[in-house]
Amino acid sequence: MNSTLDTIRNRRSVRSFKPEQIADAEIAAIIEAGTYAPSGRGDQSWYFTVIQNTGLLHELSEAVKRIYASLDNPFLQSQGKNEKYHLFYHAPTVILVSGNEAALLPQLDCAVSVQNMLLAAESLHIGSCWISGLDLLAATGEGRPVLNTLSIPPGYKPYFSVALGFKNNENLKAAPRKENIIHFIR
Ligand SMILES: Cc1cc2nc3c(=O)[nH]c(=O)nc-3n(C[C@H](O)[C@H](O)[C@H](O)COP(=O)(O)O)c2cc1C
Repeated sequence: MNSTLDTIRNRRSVRSFKPEQIADAEIAAIIEAGTYAPSGRGDQSWYFTVIQNTGLLHELSEAVKRIYASLDNPFLQSQGKNEKYHLFYHAPTVILVSGNEAALLPQLDCAVSVQNMLLAAESLHIGSCWISGLDLLAATGEGRPVLNTLSIPPGYKPYFSVALGFKNNENLKAAPRKENIIHFIR
């Protein structure tokens, strides 16, 4: 197995982090990997906001949880109402990925950029988790005040975020892979 395939296979969503901060050089390498993702029409429509302020991360988490608690979806509702749930699992660094709404496929651009960053983090032995829900802040009046503190450029919409930090647990197991999902036509 080559190292890229190992990285793909070994990456897991990490939801428990050590409090130590990761280095700026590691963050730069992870974001650079994000910028080398493919993008619709080559638009590179992503914009990255690195957040390490614990108070702001708590505020964002609480704002998204309030929205989750009001939704019909039972899974999200229970997360929203769970006092112990922190949207970013207390990760010391969170990278918010916003997309230029004038691009052809900004949400997909941001998604593939996130995946590149998750793999880059794994290759650096840094734990990561894809975090959604931030898009809801833009959709509700309630989420606007906290979003406005983030200096996201006009015309960009927050889509996803990546929680990053050193792993508390190295032994996360992948769920069994689904079978019968391939059909060759030759
Ligand atoms: C589009 C997308 C959104 C996700 N959103 C969240 C999220 O908000 N919170 C979270 O803890 N995990 C989130 N995840 C991670 C998935 O739960 C995780 O990838 C899945 O359970 C499989 O586990 P693995 O990543 O360890 O293989 C998301 C993953 C994707 C692809």
